[in-house]
Amino acid sequence: MTTNSNELTFLQQQAKIRHRIEEAITQQFAAEDEGLQYALTAARQAGLPQIQISPIQGKLLQLLATACNAHKILEIGSLGGYSGIWLARALPSNGHLITLEINPIHANLVRTAFAKAGVSDRAEVRVGKALDLLPHLESEAPFDLVFLDADKPPYPQYLEWALRLTRPGSFIVADNCVRSGKAFDQPEDEAMAGIVEYNKRIASDERLLSLLLAMDDDYTDGFAISVVKP
Ligand code: SAH
Ligand code: DHB
Ligand code: MG
Repeated sequence: MTTNSNELTFLQQQAKIRHRIEEAITQQFAAEDEGLQYALTAARQAGLPQIQISPIQGKLLQLLATACNAHKILEIGSLGGYSGIWLARALPSNGHLITLEINPIHANLVRTAFAKAGVSDRAEVRVGKALDLLPHLESEAPFDLVFLDADKPPYPQYLEWALRLTRPGSFIVADNCVRSGKAFDQPEDEAMAGIVEYNKRIASDERLLSLLLAMDDDYTDGFAISVVKP
């Protein structure tokens, strides 16, 4: 009993420390401006699920985009445009972000959010099922960075498309690849099956160098980051 309550206190302190660190890093390195805040508020008011990436994840996407001198970025799964704004802002003025979104209501919110954030000149949302839209992107490839964040069962198929649509030196980043550790267990549903298979492929594919990072707001989920080897 004593041990348990000591342990609980310890874990609560650890969680508090992690939370403080997260907030401090966000404040110092990943502060949101009005454009990003508008996208969040509009999505929340429209009743969209609040499952956008964290500010630190947004900043990491910008860092990766800058590292590979990104001029063309592809995102799969736009929601309210929050991650799209982070990505578009890492592009030069002649750069281009294409984001794919199945839900036309989401897509309309994204267009407004992109306009408010001042990135409409370089960011475009295309409406449809990603697996239907992806074959039409071959003429616009190669993309320097692909960010996967839509439905989870087809993650392995999205990876195949990402490999087809990138170049050596491109980054392929996928959200939700840790899932509280479920990514390392026997999958219990289609979504986890997609993520487990995705991780298995990026870990062993000779064309990629990959790493999983637990880095969401409570370190229980995170990005799978792959670079296409030269
Ligand atoms: N990247 C966003 C969050 C995306 S949430 C952000 O961080 O701000 C996932 C989105 O993928 C939702 O908007 C959902 O409608 C969309 N989606 C789900 N299945 C899809 C599919 N098959 N094709 C395209 N978009 C899909
Ligand atoms: C869910 C999807 C996401 O892309 C995410 O970042 C968090 C949650 C979900 O479908 O539950
Ligand atoms: Mg996600």
